[in-house]
Amino acid sequence: MPQRVILDVDTGTDDAVALMVAALSPDLELVGATTVNGNTLVHFCTENTLRVFDYIGKQIPVFEGMSMPLSRPDFVRDVASAIHGDLLDLPPATSKKQPQHAVDWLIDTYMASDGDIILVPVGPLTNIAAAIRKEPRIVEKIPEIVIMGGAHEHGNCTPSAEFNIWADPEAARIVVNCGRPIRMIPLDATHRALIDHADCARFRELGSPAAIATAVVVERRISGYDATQPMHRLGAAPVHDALAVCAILDPSVVTTHFIHVDVEVRGELTDGRTVCDFKGRGKGKPNVHFATDADEPKFVRMLSDILGRTA
Ligand code: BDR
Ligand code: CA
Repeated sequence: MPQRVILDVDTGTDDAVALMVAALSPDLELVGATTVNGNTLVHFCTENTLRVFDYIGKQIPVFEGMSMPLSRPDFVRDVASAIHGDLLDLPPATSKKQPQHAVDWLIDTYMASDGDIILVPVGPLTNIAAAIRKEPRIVEKIPEIVIMGGAHEHGNCTPSAEFNIWADPEAARIVVNCGRPIRMIPLDATHRALIDHADCARFRELGSPAAIATAVVVERRISGYDATQPMHRLGAAPVHDALAVCAILDPSVVTTHFIHVDVEVRGELTDGRTVCDFKGRGKGKPNVHFATDADEPKFVRMLSDILGRTA
């Protein structure tokens, strides 16, 4: 039986690859996708998510969610970034979003489930925290939350904070402390699994819509990273959100440590920092399986195997 998953996304170039991996892997059943303010305004994230599914010929319901963070209305990215832009370079969507709000759909879906749907938030955690606030009983229905977010070594949005956590720290704090098993795939892991131009050329050769779309969006990421946050090798970029989905399919693609993690929400310089207690210096019990490394060749192999498939 494929593992059921829901992706919460702010699509977004790397979200796009994560969506395609989840939609095309024979070992996953993507129940639906919910969108949230993040990489760009939420209506662009919704359009981009629909574009991805249309392009690969998959009919997966898409529910639009929160348009701003829980308590920081100024943390809204209304300027296209070099890495994502507003709209993906894919044809406009012909499918429509679902009429129900993402938060209500998450609540209804989890409450009606057998507790077997892994939740995979790869954007700011606003929808998830809003759902937990509105219906706290959904927490016990979520078997595991696999989050792309956080950073221990260094941030990407500020020196301290990774973007998804920084963009709604209060929401992240609610989710990280919700009491369910959490796996966190932070920058410490995603920056060790880069995709380069040669990988993109191989994806194009595979010829499937998903592999071609991945080459298109990752090439855009590589230019953006080279220009604004070069990695340890030029001409290569992380595809953060896809690594989180791959970690569900094969946990050994990342190396994790079970530690206490909390989120800074009152820092003058450190808002949105994931504070990681690797050395047991605080009083908190381990609550997060926090990834510190990734197996780049395995990640690239997984992407090729899955994205080469057609719907
Ligand atoms: C995360 O932030 C977003 O820009 C990406 O889509 C990813 O989810 C990386 O910090
Ligand atoms: Ca994202």
